[in-house]
Amino acid sequence: MIELKKKIIVTSALPYANGEIHLGHVTSTYLPADIFTRFHRLKKNDAIHVCATDDFGTPILIKAEQEGKTPEQLVAYWNEKDKKDFKDFGISFDIFHQTSSKENVELTQYFFTKLNEKGYIYKKTITQAFCEKCQKFLPDRYVKGICPYCGAKEQYSDGCEKCGKTFQPGEILKPHCAVCGSKPITKESEHYFLKLSHFSDELKRWLTLNRNLQKDVKNYVLRWIEEGLRDWDITRDISWGVPIPLEGTKGKVLYGWFDNHLCYISTALKYFSDKGIDGKSWNSSEIYHFIGKDIVYHHYLFLPAMRLGVGEFKLPDFIPTRGHLLLQGQKFSKSRGWYVSLRGFLNDFPADYLRYYLSTTTPYDQTDVNFDWDEFHSRINNELVANIGNFIHRTLMFIWSRFKGIVPEPGEYNDLDIAFEEKIWKAEDNVGKELEKIELEKALKKIIEFSGSCNQYFQSCEPWANEKRASNCLYLCINAVRSLAILLEPFLPFSTEKLWKELNLSGSVHEQDWASISKILIKPNHKIDKPQILFKKIENEEIKKQKQKLKKGGKK
Ligand code: MF3
Ligand code: ZN
Repeated sequence: MIELKKKIIVTSALPYANGEIHLGHVTSTYLPADIFTRFHRLKKNDAIHVCATDDFGTPILIKAEQEGKTPEQLVAYWNEKDKKDFKDFGISFDIFHQTSSKENVELTQYFFTKLNEKGYIYKKTITQAFCEKCQKFLPDRYVKGICPYCGAKEQYSDGCEKCGKTFQPGEILKPHCAVCGSKPITKESEHYFLKLSHFSDELKRWLTLNRNLQKDVKNYVLRWIEEGLRDWDITRDISWGVPIPLEGTKGKVLYGWFDNHLCYISTALKYFSDKGIDGKSWNSSEIYHFIGKDIVYHHYLFLPAMRLGVGEFKLPDFIPTRGHLLLQGQKFSKSRGWYVSLRGFLNDFPADYLRYYLSTTTPYDQTDVNFDWDEFHSRINNELVANIGNFIHRTLMFIWSRFKGIVPEPGEYNDLDIAFEEKIWKAEDNVGKELEKIELEKALKKIIEFSGSCNQYFQSCEPWANEKRASNCLYLCINAVRSLAILLEPFLPFSTEKLWKELNLSGSVHEQDWASISKILIKPNHKIDKPQILFKKIENEEIKKQKQKLKKGGKK
């Protein structure tokens, strides 16, 4: 069957440029998106992974003020730092840009202008919190108070972290200034609103017709539409944001959620223009926006409504949405120290260990995932080391020590060999089917099963006791190792590249062809390199240390 090369744009939700990337972010978003993109690169599709820092908005302005920096300095710092963290974790972005970039500011103003021309934007005077002490309007995170829906205390005025609702300015109960704590007064201010309600029917239609969207998410978004969408305030009285492209709007900017998701588009376009590619040739590409479940509202409603309104950009095909990450069964909390940053993790363990563990525990749905140090420990030691690592190592070591590193010539196959060769043929399709569907966890389970059957085959051949069987066994096993290297590349990019070198194969594992997994390409007489241990067991002590680090922050 001839398959046409697909064009695929993968995006990951943009991290705010004011703090460290933590395990929650990578679990729900960056890691799944990276695995998926790597798979499609191996499939020889044109797949790019696009991301940027989310630079605008009040949290960043507040942080910059606290640190005595300009917001530009603050976001430049975090952009660099995030880039480095992602790289060390093996997230292979094709481009990592900024929402405050010239490209994004221009595209955002273009969207505003178009939507305005088409009559989807209107002006309205609202009363807005104003702090007399700070002499400032207080949008969003400048105000804290009580959630009008669920009663949760100390919530920011743009949405509740407890019940997930987003609110309009003025809705929060018992407001106080987040900077100085005083009670704000209200003052009138002119804001621009997007007629979100106008798009209700179109959104409903798109949600219903798009069969790729996860059913459960789709259903509750449809329920929100049934309940009635309210028009959306897209401006703020601060200085840090995209300027409103209209006269007489000084001191106001566009809301961060108006411009941030446009950065998916502006950044992809920048990537194309930097590469001298005609962006139009990507017009009909498949679009995947990977997100965490806390930003469903924005991605299933605001984002498509804006694209529908302007009418020149494709709506997403997939919005893979995953749950929150818990740490030892509790919510992450930086302030309580109940927290693991990506950098902190990478200082103590190889990136591939984290990628492996998170991939085995993160399903393609919205259930919350639990990071548990004991489970991490046992998954690495009992699966990655004892199953996958063991098979690879015994195969390479056997060839190294008994065959002087030279792949033996096979003789006639017996039934066992035939059955095993068939397993190698089938692995590509078995695993690929799941990756295709973004069922990454299921794909990895199938790889583990495959590796399990490789161990079984090796064991039943008894190559150490049976010289006649040894050549068939090792010939097929070294080919299975090659297949495993490619199967695992999306999950474990660092270890599989090392393995590729040990196999002494040409090029890089990242450039291989997924279809070649089912082929027997390592021929007799091929010489391998000296094997090294790819995966080492984690000692009990190391896990104990990690748990102690957390202890101080845990619930008493
Ligand atoms: N910065 C936002 C957050 O962390 C996510 C932005 S994703 C985008 O919640 F679509 F808006 F860009
Ligand atoms: Zn104040």
